[in-house]
Amino acid sequence: MALVKVAELGEIPPGGRKRVLVKRHPIALFHLEDGFYAIDDTCTHAEASLCEGQLMGDQVACPLHGARFDIRTGKALTLPAVTPVTTYPVVVQGNDILVEV
Ligand code: FES
Repeated sequence: MALVKVAELGEIPPGGRKRVLVKRHPIALFHLEDGFYAIDDTCTHAEASLCEGQLMGDQVACPLHGARFDIRTGKALTLPAVTPVTTYPVVVQGNDILVEV
């Protein structure tokens, strides 16, 4: 496991998100009201970018077919997705936001 810097504080406002590549792997970083969360950016149904989806509280809806995922747990909450997305621990160190991969 390694911590990789993906953003800086102030770069992603509350309710915002950022798509980052970590070792060429797309990860969606979300700023929820209680902190930052990172999940695989690619929907487990048919490869859409979840970073481009609609945010609803702590859930994101896939922009392609609308499956909802829990951003905190990665759980697929609605069809057509049934497989969860991987989640990654997020650490804030000083001004840096890091993801453990
Ligand atoms: S690609 Fe995400 S629900 Fe189909």
